[in-house]
Amino acid sequence: MSTQTLKAPANIKLARLGEDTIVPPFECGDNDLNDFLMNDAKNYSKSLLAVTYLLQADDEIVAYFSLSNDRLIKNDRERPVWNRINRIIPNDKRRRSYPAVKIGRLAVAKKYAGKRLGSYIILAIQNMYINEPQRAGCRFLMVDAYKNALPFYQKNDFKFLTEQDYNDDTRIMYFDLKAILA
Ligand SMILES: CC(C)(COP(=O)(O)OP(=O)(O)OC[C@H]1O[C@@H](n2cnc3c(N)ncnc32)[C@H](O)[C@@H]1OP(=O)(O)O)[C@@H](O)C(=O)NCCC(=O)NCCS
Repeated sequence: MSTQTLKAPANIKLARLGEDTIVPPFECGDNDLNDFLMNDAKNYSKSLLAVTYLLQADDEIVAYFSLSNDRLIKNDRERPVWNRINRIIPNDKRRRSYPAVKIGRLAVAKKYAGKRLGSYIILAIQNMYINEPQRAGCRFLMVDAYKNALPFYQKNDFKFLTEQDYNDDTRIMYFDLKAILA
Protein backbone atom coordinates (compact mmCIF):
# COMPACT_ATOMS: atom_id res chain seq x y z
CA MET A 1 0.00 0.00 0.00
CA SER A 2 1.30 3.47 -0.86
CA THR A 3 0.07 7.04 -0.62
CA GLN A 4 0.85 7.29 -4.34
CA THR A 5 -2.34 5.38 -5.08
CA LEU A 6 -4.43 8.14 -3.48
CA LYS A 7 -6.91 9.42 -6.01
CA ALA A 8 -10.26 10.95 -5.15
CA PRO A 9 -13.17 9.01 -6.65
CA ALA A 10 -14.91 11.07 -9.37
CA ASN A 11 -17.22 13.82 -8.02
CA ILE A 12 -16.30 13.10 -4.42
CA LYS A 13 -14.78 15.83 -2.29
CA LEU A 14 -13.15 15.57 1.11
CA ALA A 15 -14.05 18.45 3.44
CA ARG A 16 -13.74 19.20 7.12
CA LEU A 17 -17.05 19.46 9.00
CA GLY A 18 -17.56 23.08 10.02
CA GLU A 19 -19.99 24.71 12.41
CA ASP A 20 -22.10 25.89 9.46
CA THR A 21 -21.97 22.68 7.44
CA ILE A 22 -25.47 21.39 6.71
CA VAL A 23 -25.57 17.68 7.47
CA PRO A 24 -28.19 15.80 5.45
CA PRO A 25 -29.49 12.43 6.71
CA PHE A 26 -26.83 9.72 6.72
CA GLU A 27 -27.40 5.97 6.82
CA CYS A 28 -24.51 3.55 7.22
CA GLY A 29 -26.38 0.72 8.94
CA ASP A 30 -25.15 1.58 12.43
CA ASN A 31 -27.36 3.86 14.54
CA ASP A 32 -24.54 5.11 16.80
CA LEU A 33 -22.45 6.16 13.81
CA ASN A 34 -25.45 7.78 12.08
CA ASP A 35 -26.34 9.61 15.28
CA PHE A 36 -22.81 10.81 15.94
CA LEU A 37 -22.67 12.57 12.59
CA MET A 38 -26.13 14.14 12.93
CA ASN A 39 -26.02 15.14 16.60
CA ASP A 40 -22.54 14.99 18.13
CA ALA A 41 -19.83 15.66 15.56
CA LYS A 42 -20.05 19.46 15.75
CA ASN A 43 -20.04 19.43 19.56
CA TYR A 44 -16.98 17.17 19.60
CA SER A 45 -15.28 19.64 17.30
CA LYS A 46 -16.28 22.63 19.46
CA SER A 47 -15.01 20.81 22.56
CA LEU A 48 -11.69 20.07 20.76
CA LEU A 49 -12.26 16.34 21.23
CA ALA A 50 -12.50 15.18 17.60
CA VAL A 51 -12.38 16.62 14.11
CA THR A 52 -14.80 15.17 11.58
CA TYR A 53 -14.25 14.99 7.83
CA LEU A 54 -16.90 14.35 5.18
CA LEU A 55 -16.74 12.71 1.80
CA GLN A 56 -19.37 14.53 -0.21
CA ALA A 57 -20.88 13.97 -3.64
CA ASP A 58 -23.12 16.87 -4.65
CA ASP A 59 -25.48 17.34 -1.67
CA GLU A 60 -24.98 13.86 -0.34
CA ILE A 61 -22.66 12.62 2.39
CA VAL A 62 -21.07 9.47 1.09
CA ALA A 63 -18.87 8.74 4.10
CA TYR A 64 -17.31 10.38 7.13
CA PHE A 65 -14.58 9.86 9.65
CA SER A 66 -13.36 11.60 12.78
CA LEU A 67 -9.87 11.90 14.21
CA SER A 68 -8.44 12.60 17.68
CA ASN A 69 -4.94 12.65 19.08
CA ASP A 70 -4.01 9.41 20.77
CA ARG A 71 -1.03 7.32 21.82
CA LEU A 72 -0.02 3.73 21.47
CA ILE A 73 0.82 2.53 24.99
CA LYS A 74 2.95 -0.43 26.01
CA ASN A 75 0.95 -3.36 27.28
CA ASP A 76 3.19 -5.39 29.59
CA ARG A 77 1.06 -8.48 29.04
CA GLU A 78 1.67 -8.45 25.27
CA ARG A 79 5.45 -8.65 25.05
CA PRO A 80 5.68 -10.17 21.53
CA VAL A 81 3.50 -7.41 20.07
CA TRP A 82 5.45 -4.71 21.88
CA ASN A 83 8.77 -6.26 20.78
CA ARG A 84 7.52 -6.22 17.19
CA ILE A 85 6.64 -2.53 17.51
CA ASN A 86 9.91 -1.66 19.25
CA ARG A 87 11.98 -3.43 16.59
CA ILE A 88 10.92 -0.75 14.10
CA ILE A 89 11.94 2.09 16.45
CA PRO A 90 15.65 2.92 16.84
CA ASN A 91 17.07 1.82 20.21
CA ASP A 92 17.62 5.27 21.67
CA LYS A 93 14.10 6.40 20.74
CA ARG A 94 12.21 3.53 22.37
CA ARG A 95 9.57 4.62 24.87
CA ARG A 96 6.61 3.15 26.76
CA SER A 97 4.24 4.99 24.42
CA TYR A 98 4.34 6.52 20.95
CA PRO A 99 2.33 9.38 19.39
CA ALA A 100 -0.67 8.33 17.36
CA VAL A 101 -3.95 9.52 15.93
CA LYS A 102 -7.19 7.67 16.53
CA ILE A 103 -9.81 7.04 13.89
CA GLY A 104 -12.66 7.55 16.35
CA ARG A 105 -15.36 6.92 13.80
CA LEU A 106 -15.43 5.81 10.18
CA ALA A 107 -18.58 5.08 8.23
CA VAL A 108 -19.55 4.68 4.59
CA ALA A 109 -23.18 5.21 3.57
CA LYS A 110 -24.89 1.87 2.98
CA LYS A 111 -25.53 2.48 -0.71
CA TYR A 112 -21.81 3.16 -1.28
CA ALA A 113 -20.45 0.22 0.76
CA GLY A 114 -18.04 -2.11 -1.00
CA LYS A 115 -16.87 0.52 -3.49
CA ARG A 116 -13.49 1.04 -1.83
CA LEU A 117 -14.45 4.35 -0.24
CA GLY A 118 -13.47 3.06 3.20
CA SER A 119 -10.04 2.13 1.83
CA TYR A 120 -9.82 5.51 0.14
CA ILE A 121 -10.43 7.14 3.55
CA ILE A 122 -7.60 5.11 5.11
CA LEU A 123 -5.29 6.28 2.31
CA ALA A 124 -6.48 9.86 2.76
CA ILE A 125 -5.68 9.74 6.49
CA GLN A 126 -2.26 8.22 5.80
CA ASN A 127 -1.68 10.96 3.25
CA MET A 128 -2.67 13.66 5.78
CA TYR A 129 -0.08 12.40 8.26
CA ILE A 130 2.71 11.51 5.83
CA ASN A 131 2.58 14.17 3.14
CA GLU A 132 1.04 17.20 4.83
CA PRO A 133 3.04 19.42 7.21
CA GLN A 134 2.48 18.37 10.84
CA ARG A 135 2.59 20.43 14.03
CA ALA A 136 3.37 17.37 16.13
CA GLY A 137 4.88 13.95 15.58
CA CYS A 138 2.49 11.11 14.84
CA ARG A 139 3.76 7.60 14.15
CA PHE A 140 0.70 5.32 14.34
CA LEU A 141 -2.94 5.23 13.28
CA MET A 142 -5.17 3.61 15.91
CA VAL A 143 -8.72 2.34 15.82
CA ASP A 144 -11.12 0.54 18.16
CA ALA A 145 -12.49 -1.53 15.32
CA TYR A 146 -16.03 -2.91 15.35
CA LYS A 147 -16.11 -6.71 15.03
CA ASN A 148 -17.81 -6.51 11.64
CA ALA A 149 -15.12 -4.16 10.33
CA LEU A 150 -12.07 -6.22 11.42
CA PRO A 151 -11.54 -7.74 7.93
CA PHE A 152 -11.73 -4.26 6.42
CA TYR A 153 -8.93 -2.96 8.67
CA GLN A 154 -6.87 -6.13 8.20
CA LYS A 155 -7.11 -5.70 4.43
CA ASN A 156 -5.83 -2.17 4.95
CA ASP A 157 -2.78 -3.54 6.82
CA PHE A 158 -3.85 -2.70 10.37
CA LYS A 159 -2.56 -5.11 13.06
CA PHE A 160 -4.04 -6.21 16.39
CA LEU A 161 -2.42 -4.65 19.45
CA THR A 162 -3.51 -7.37 21.86
CA GLU A 163 -5.27 -10.73 22.03
CA GLN A 164 -6.92 -9.75 25.34
CA ASP A 165 -9.78 -8.03 23.46
CA TYR A 166 -10.37 -11.08 21.20
CA ASN A 167 -13.93 -11.57 22.52
CA ASP A 168 -14.83 -7.90 22.91
CA ASP A 169 -17.24 -5.93 20.69
CA THR A 170 -14.34 -3.81 19.45
CA ARG A 171 -10.64 -4.59 19.04
CA ILE A 172 -7.70 -2.18 19.18
CA MET A 173 -5.76 -2.11 15.92
CA TYR A 174 -2.80 -0.04 14.75
CA PHE A 175 -1.02 0.92 11.55
CA ASP A 176 2.61 2.08 11.41
CA LEU A 177 2.77 5.21 9.22
CA LYS A 178 6.54 4.79 8.81
CA ALA A 179 5.91 1.53 6.93
CA ILE A 180 4.67 3.60 4.01
CA LEU A 181 7.97 5.45 3.79
CA ALA A 182 10.13 2.34 4.08
C1 LIG B 1 -16.54 -1.09 7.30
C2 LIG B 1 -16.67 -0.01 6.19
C3 LIG B 1 -16.02 1.28 6.67
C4 LIG B 1 -15.91 -0.54 4.96
O1 LIG B 1 -15.94 0.44 3.93
P1 LIG B 1 -16.10 -0.01 2.40
O2 LIG B 1 -15.93 1.18 1.55
O3 LIG B 1 -17.36 -0.78 2.27
O4 LIG B 1 -14.85 -1.01 2.27
P2 LIG B 1 -13.91 -1.25 1.00
O5 LIG B 1 -14.75 -1.35 -0.23
O6 LIG B 1 -12.82 -0.25 0.99
O7 LIG B 1 -13.32 -2.72 1.36
C5 LIG B 1 -11.95 -3.03 1.35
C6 LIG B 1 -11.82 -4.52 1.61
O8 LIG B 1 -12.37 -4.84 2.89
C7 LIG B 1 -13.40 -5.83 2.74
N1 LIG B 1 -14.50 -5.51 3.66
C8 LIG B 1 -15.07 -4.30 3.86
N2 LIG B 1 -16.06 -4.42 4.79
C9 LIG B 1 -16.09 -5.72 5.16
C10 LIG B 1 -16.87 -6.45 6.08
N3 LIG B 1 -17.82 -5.89 6.81
N4 LIG B 1 -16.61 -7.79 6.20
C11 LIG B 1 -15.64 -8.40 5.48
N5 LIG B 1 -14.86 -7.75 4.58
C12 LIG B 1 -15.08 -6.43 4.44
C13 LIG B 1 -13.87 -5.70 1.31
O9 LIG B 1 -14.46 -6.90 0.85
C14 LIG B 1 -12.59 -5.37 0.59
O10 LIG B 1 -11.85 -6.57 0.39
P3 LIG B 1 -11.04 -6.89 -0.97
O11 LIG B 1 -9.88 -5.91 -0.96
O12 LIG B 1 -10.61 -8.30 -0.83
O13 LIG B 1 -11.98 -6.63 -2.09
C15 LIG B 1 -18.14 0.23 5.79
O14 LIG B 1 -18.72 -0.94 5.31
C16 LIG B 1 -19.00 0.80 6.90
O15 LIG B 1 -19.06 2.01 7.06
N6 LIG B 1 -19.69 -0.08 7.66
C17 LIG B 1 -20.64 0.38 8.72
C18 LIG B 1 -19.96 1.17 9.81
C19 LIG B 1 -18.74 0.47 10.41
O16 LIG B 1 -18.73 -0.70 10.74
N7 LIG B 1 -17.65 1.27 10.57
C20 LIG B 1 -16.38 0.80 11.14
C21 LIG B 1 -16.27 1.36 12.53
S1 LIG B 1 -14.79 0.78 13.32
